[in-house]
Amino acid sequence: MTICRKTQLYAENKKEEIMVNVAVLGYGTVGSGVVEVLNTNKEIIKQKVGEELKVKYVLDLREFEGDPVQEILVHDYDVILKDKDVKIIAEAMGGEEPAYTFTKNALLAGKSVCTSNKELVAKHGAELIEIAKKNNANYFFEASVGGGIPIIRPLNQCLTGDEITEICGILNGTTNYILTKMSEKGYAFEDVLKDAQDKGYAERNPEADVEGYDACRKIAILTSLVSGAQVDFEDIHTEGITKITEADFKYAKALKASIKLLGISRKIDGKFYSMVAPFMIKENNPLYSVRGVFNGILVHGNMVEDVMFYGQGAGKLATASAVVADVVDAARNLGKNIPVEWKQTKSELGRFEDCKSKFFVRMKDKGLDSDQMDTVNEAFGDVLYVRAEEIKDELAFVTGEMTEEEFAEQLKKFDDVYSVIRVNF
Ligand code: HSE
Repeated sequence: MTICRKTQLYAENKKEEIMVNVAVLGYGTVGSGVVEVLNTNKEIIKQKVGEELKVKYVLDLREFEGDPVQEILVHDYDVILKDKDVKIIAEAMGGEEPAYTFTKNALLAGKSVCTSNKELVAKHGAELIEIAKKNNANYFFEASVGGGIPIIRPLNQCLTGDEITEICGILNGTTNYILTKMSEKGYAFEDVLKDAQDKGYAERNPEADVEGYDACRKIAILTSLVSGAQVDFEDIHTEGITKITEADFKYAKALKASIKLLGISRKIDGKFYSMVAPFMIKENNPLYSVRGVFNGILVHGNMVEDVMFYGQGAGKLATASAVVADVVDAARNLGKNIPVEWKQTKSELGRFEDCKSKFFVRMKDKGLDSDQMDTVNEAFGDVLYVRAEEIKDELAFVTGEMTEEEFAEQLKKFDDVYSVIRVNF
């Protein structure tokens, strides 16, 4: 007969308080948010778990004089690892190392780990899930994609009756903020980036966001989850937003469209075709109205059809809320592994060259005396020409649907191409 811990403690008439001890790794934005959420919602969380969740340690190399966290601050991870009372670890360190080694050792010791670390999940998620399973623990990563938006658990536990055939998301708040400002105010990329950095929305080194690397890791995680096998982010074609100009937005307006950085995975004939790139989308697309730092993720299942997830994709308390939800789940399931279907075997993606899109193209206008339009019509199928206010001497159009390979081949026939943006309508 199994006696639950609570019953055992009562039976033994122990005075020890009934609680689950948690350690938080990293006291930066997300880690301090986790401590704040656990403190602010202490009673509600206690009701949900049935026991109090107590932060026993916070690990950080720094000191935090004057902050109550100082009393539970440790600098040596071994203190946490060796403490058998610590059942759950919230990892908010970010980056690959030492987070990988710390997580692996915690799981091997039977402790559950809940993380917001998308770099680690994208690279080692499958392995860590397997280690958790073997040790009757859990590796949860709700906060690694979409910040506070529930997306991992819905894919893993709610949409399991469906074959997921498409995921299309605005997965990066920083770039969505920049594109929204460019669209609504007509500002240049560099100016909005500077404003975003001043407001703390963009990092001083914005490369991971503006080059699409962050969104790439997130779509890799989501595609791994729905395919059940490892999708390597290095295999996903990724373009950022640095080449998008004010002129592109003028044409987008003329087309009644907006430009969004999308992470897309589409299942065709059993294979996922994935990419991260800026796309023009129209008002009838639910992602059109996702503005500013918000994220939106559209999931299509073969039975449920479209399901939309929307909310704050970043930020201290929103991200911490998702980590704490995982901690609650881990506390409710101590000693019991919740299955996550994500094997270490590699999932082969479909060839990027075979992905189909329409393409918006801007090039120098060679004038009516040239045969430029004939060549365009011949090269790009069902072409839709577009004019934008105040822009002269340019020929701009949307191509018919074609593969990346066909498009790249045809584009070689033209020089003086100013910009190319994929079109999703
Ligand atoms: N830099 C990320 C973003 C943070 O802007 O969305 C959340 O992962």
